[in-house]
Amino acid sequence: MTDLVVRRLLVDLQAPIARHWCAGDAFRTALFNALSMSFPVGEQFFMDSVRNGFKALPPQQQEKFRAEVQGFVGQEATHRRLHSLYNAHLEKLGLVNDWEARARERLKVLEGQDVRHWVAITAANEHFTAILADFLLHHPDLLGDQDPRLATLWLWHSAEESEHKCTAFDLYQALGGDHAWRIRWMKRITTIFLLDTLRQTVLNLRHDGTLWKWSTWRSAASYLFGQRGLVRLTYRPWREYFRRDFHPRQQDSGASRRWLADHADQYVPVRT
Ligand SMILES: [Fe+2]
Ligand SMILES: [Fe+2]
Repeated sequence: MTDLVVRRLLVDLQAPIARHWCAGDAFRTALFNALSMSFPVGEQFFMDSVRNGFKALPPQQQEKFRAEVQGFVGQEATHRRLHSLYNAHLEKLGLVNDWEARARERLKVLEGQDVRHWVAITAANEHFTAILADFLLHHPDLLGDQDPRLATLWLWHSAEESEHKCTAFDLYQALGGDHAWRIRWMKRITTIFLLDTLRQTVLNLRHDGTLWKWSTWRSAASYLFGQRGLVRLTYRPWREYFRRDFHPRQQDSGASRRWLADHADQYVPVRT
């Protein structure tokens, strides 16, 4: 079991966000903004899944998971709150969150379904967030230095995603979730997540008026497929999830531990 600390991040999200806060780069800004738009609805779903999965465990198993589930919910609730503040600024910039409504509609079909489906979906999404988080923690310069608040927000969120990456996975195993469904959900979530990310990023660029600029497409190609490209570097760790003996712990979390140790002045632990 992992000891999860809930941290209050010492950043001020009251001041407005610049149109191209991420290194002045329209594409990267649109991509990160798109991901941020998915968090309030997504993280609420992860919390609900983990809470419901926990309740479905036999009492002796619950004791083993209690502290970790509390930590997981506390961390996700904090992420959700800060990203909602961030997203309110995006709305003022004229961006429209299309992802949230679509996700809410899709989640309706899960109502009344076996909780293991919920937890498997959460585990798949948590694998995505963990590999993206690790990528970001290894390449923090990609966030630029124009808005240190947002760079800190993304890196703190990444560090905690990496820290709690085992919770939903372990819960799924404890609930007797099988390999076939774990894989099935990962395939579906991969398609859904990539299409949603693409759609929202394109929509953000359209509202920003930068969709058809050559510099946007050049940045997209290099940021996704270049030497330090997101797709290029996360493909292998993503693929590992399909192994029968996979466990998130097998993927290194050193970058997360280092960030948390080196930036202890950026947050206050609220529960240990
Ligand atoms: Fe999160
Ligand atoms: Fe998470």
